[in-house]
Amino acid sequence: MIVVPGPASKELGLNIARILGVKVVPIEFKHFPDGESYIRFTESTQGENVVIVQTTGPPQDTSLIQLLLLIDTAKELGAKSIAAVVPYVAYGRQNSRFRDGEAISSKTVFRLLKNVDIDHFITVNFHVPEILKGLKTPFENVSAIQPLAEHMLSYGLSGAFSLAPDEGAIKLVEESSKILKGGYGWLRKERDKVTGDVAFNTSSLEVKGKDVVIFDDIISSGSTMISAVKILKTLGTKRIYVACVHPLLIGNALQKVLAEGALSIVGTDCVRSLVSSLSVAPLLADILRRCFCV
Ligand code: R5P
Repeated sequence: MIVVPGPASKELGLNIARILGVKVVPIEFKHFPDGESYIRFTESTQGENVVIVQTTGPPQDTSLIQLLLLIDTAKELGAKSIAAVVPYVAYGRQNSRFRDGEAISSKTVFRLLKNVDIDHFITVNFHVPEILKGLKTPFENVSAIQPLAEHMLSYGLSGAFSLAPDEGAIKLVEESSKILKGGYGWLRKERDKVTGDVAFNTSSLEVKGKDVVIFDDIISSGSTMISAVKILKTLGTKRIYVACVHPLLIGNALQKVLAEGALSIVGTDCVRSLVSSLSVAPLLADILRRCFCV
């Protein structure tokens, strides 16, 4: 097996290779003056089981094209098999036609991925897991919630309440509460289909005087987290922490969530950010070991 760290996941790819003790094939890449992506394999992939590690966070379109170029080229250069490790899959949230005429972007992205030669597809906490079935390729949707919750224990948060900022994150807090052991609950969120603004209907949460960790898969603009923190403050919570798998943290989302009263935000290196302190490399290396029996 060889690991090819893509331009968007260089460090993560290197860490995975280090844990597995396998060879790394570096990629030469640049942008042409008109913005198009150039990639070049610096060593052969002939006859190898190739693991391509490339996330598709911002700039999503560039990262996606690079991913497609990497997969297609590795195969053309004679790879025996290809495992695409894509910790964050862009466009995953646009999985329906919420308004007439909208593109169902996640479907289109998966159609593109279906047309390049992938033998295994590995991702982390994909937003709508059902879509992955459309790939018609063996896939793994690994969860980083257990290591995130374990990391929160190091903040002295054993017994903290796990909160999902919307119903979509209930599964995440079911998982985290098994580690933190302080119970869980969720908020009901509604997002304006045009402006993207979020509003909440607060359910009766028993969080008065408790430490709370809010878990979500993605923090993008931060609106969801900011509103969740605001609500918790009105409910008399003791301390508020935030943990998320994909900290996109667009603009000054990080500062805004902290300014609202969250004591810290912990994220993973599925996407690179100022808070990506928890690496998913051990998790992904384990999966690759299982896929390739190394
Ligand atoms: C949506 O269902 C996701 O789980 C996140 O809650 C959402 O994507 C976060 O976006 P934002 O930070 O822009 O509110």
